[in-house]
Amino acid sequence: MRKQTRISVLAVAAVLIAGCATVASTARQEPIQPIEPAKVANPAMVELGKKLFFDTRLSRSGGISCNFCHNLSTGGSDNLAASIGDRWQKGGINSPTVLNATLNIAQFWDGRAKDLKEQAGGPIANPAEMASTHVAAVSTLQTIPGYVAEFKQVFGAEQITIDRVTQALAAFEETLVTPNARFDKWLKGDDNAITEQEQRGYILFRDSGCVACHNGVAIGGNSFQKMGLLQPYKTAHTAQGRIDVTKKDQDRFMFKVPTLRNVELTYPYFHDGAASTLAQAVDTMGKLQLGRTFTTQENTDIVAFLKTLTGDQPSFALPHLPPSSDKTPRPDPFAKRK
Ligand code: HEC
Ligand code: HEC
Repeated sequence: MRKQTRISVLAVAAVLIAGCATVASTARQEPIQPIEPAKVANPAMVELGKKLFFDTRLSRSGGISCNFCHNLSTGGSDNLAASIGDRWQKGGINSPTVLNATLNIAQFWDGRAKDLKEQAGGPIANPAEMASTHVAAVSTLQTIPGYVAEFKQVFGAEQITIDRVTQALAAFEETLVTPNARFDKWLKGDDNAITEQEQRGYILFRDSGCVACHNGVAIGGNSFQKMGLLQPYKTAHTAQGRIDVTKKDQDRFMFKVPTLRNVELTYPYFHDGAASTLAQAVDTMGKLQLGRTFTTQENTDIVAFLKTLTGDQPSFALPHLPPSSDKTPRPDPFAKRK
């Protein structure tokens, strides 16, 4: 490979320049790039968004927060094939991780929300998820003096609006990136950051064609592709993918390619949650997307590589939410459905 020759020449030159005592590391040129830590432009807004992310008072029942389905202790996912929503309803589709979601070209499996801010309004008012309304959520927050003061500090205005709520949630989510995966260290030139087996798995991942769809900083998230490219995907699930947004027949069964960052943590896999293990997911991808049946050894190597993609998980002090006031409506989770 031409590229590699050029890199090794550079590496040799760098070592010569640096002298014998230091070994200079050279960044590798690969179809996958390392994640950089988030740059926080507005820390006060991020803190507010963090509180809202954990606040169950945005839901009808008073029991469901964003973190309920995108648990930051478990890779930003709920590890369920279908999420549990308001009144124990079964979610319509596997919940994707919020980690590194800021890198997605659009949000949701079918990309129907253009960005994190637009997305964040959805679950609050979705009858199968948090089942509140924007009006109810905002008027609840408005009765909580701690929030009124904090919105004022962040937005310079007393009025809480759904627009400000979703802006703060998005600002928090933008910080949920996971740098420093062992694979990133290897990309940056640390030869010992991944084992020989993991490296073998990566070469296979790259050279067999997985990188056609899983590439870039997020190793996915940047395109819509057909699930079942070479062989149809068999599922009882009714999701049709991107066609629901574009209404174009060629977009049937096109889904946003999921990020493979932290994929070890975000089982089960696929939009229907049908693959419970990474080995299963890799086997299905090989057969359906590449027309290739991996041997057990090859599958194990790729899985080993995928596990090097786990980065630094969000880590912060538990947010302390401002208490309700006497005026805050008390939730009635078990109220009869109207
Ligand atoms: C009841 C479970 C549940 C709750 C609560 C929930 N979500 Fe989700 N979330 C999902 C599911 C399921 C999807 C995928 C829906 C789809 O693609 O059609 C999703 C998708 C997303 C995505 C898009 C990720 C991607 O890769 O496309 C983001 C971001 C997100 N949710 C953030 C939030 C925020 C912020 C909140 C709180 C305001 C929240 N979610 C509350 C289940 C939930
Ligand atoms: C033609 C594009 C394409 C190729 C090539 C491809 N994938 Fe995928 N991959 C996708 C899409 C689209 C999905 C989501 C499918 C769904 O859920 O319906 C996906 C999902 C996955 C998932 C599950 C992620 C999750 O969070 O649910 C894994 C793991 C995965 N791919 C690994 C691989 C591996 C390993 C290869 C190579 C053997 C590969 N992919 C090749 C497009 C592709």
